Amino acid sequence: MKITVIGAGNVGATAAFRLAEKQFARDLVLLDVVDGIPQGKGLDMFETGPVGLFDTQIVGTNDYRETADSDIVLITAGLPRKPGMTREDLLMKNATIVRDVTDQIMEHSKNPIIIVVSNPLDIMTHVACVRSRLPKERVIGMAGVLDSARFRSFIAMELNVSMQDVNACVLGGHGDSMVPVVKYTTVAGIPISELMSPERIDALVERTRNGGAEIVNFLKQGSAFYAPASSAVEMIESIVLDRKRVLPCSVQLNGEYGIDGTFVGVPVKLGKNGVEKVYEIDLAASELEALKASAAIVDENVQLLDSILA
Ligand code: LAC
Repeated sequence: MKITVIGAGNVGATAAFRLAEKQFARDLVLLDVVDGIPQGKGLDMFETGPVGLFDTQIVGTNDYRETADSDIVLITAGLPRKPGMTREDLLMKNATIVRDVTDQIMEHSKNPIIIVVSNPLDIMTHVACVRSRLPKERVIGMAGVLDSARFRSFIAMELNVSMQDVNACVLGGHGDSMVPVVKYTTVAGIPISELMSPERIDALVERTRNGGAEIVNFLKQGSAFYAPASSAVEMIESIVLDRKRVLPCSVQLNGEYGIDGTFVGVPVKLGKNGVEKVYEIDLAASELEALKASAAIVDENVQLLDSILA
């Protein structure tokens, strides 16, 4: 098993370190365009082995040849959001970066599973899918796991219960149009509507929607990385260990929910082959409408990319 992380910024480095600790792969490559950063961070992680008790062989590099024959590639490359910037502002710059990264990955690995974290997420996942020409089951965007984790953490905080018992379902695009589905959000199987007032639920939904911006506003420079990196690692774990977790991920729909060809967040089963099943769950009319509206925004943005993807 070989895993490559593209981008040695906050998300990439944090994900690489968690992956090293979990020893999902003997070979772990951390690649960045900036000379010295992946080498330095990679060596620092490698030197953690004796005290962290892992044997992961971490290589930091600027050279895509080192990524040869990767089984899984995590793309975190791209510019982060600055305060006041929407994820869409990043569109053109990051589409070019993700396009070029994907082309270089595919030059050296035949059939990897690609997980995308770069923003705007659903659109960048589309870019990676188109350029890689991989089957759609092998190109997956990380958004719903993060958005659900935020919602779950706010619910656990509000009710003073263990995070472990809180399950949440956040669908749609990763952005202001995300669709938290309250009906499927529970604490040990108990719907949150039995535990909280509608007003409090609405407040937590709103906080979840703005979860990324809340962190950006604190940090001033750059965006969240612990929760995003950990969310990507949870997806990789399900693939590497073939756990078949059911997680909300951005995948290309093929008629499910009346959406065709668009990458948007829905519950999927993740196993050794990537996306092994897309779940079409029963949604209220308003939620289905919100999901479709979210997909329409992704579509509109994808159409702006013709010049970049040609
Ligand atoms: C967030 C950014 C990374 O949600 O999209 O934190």
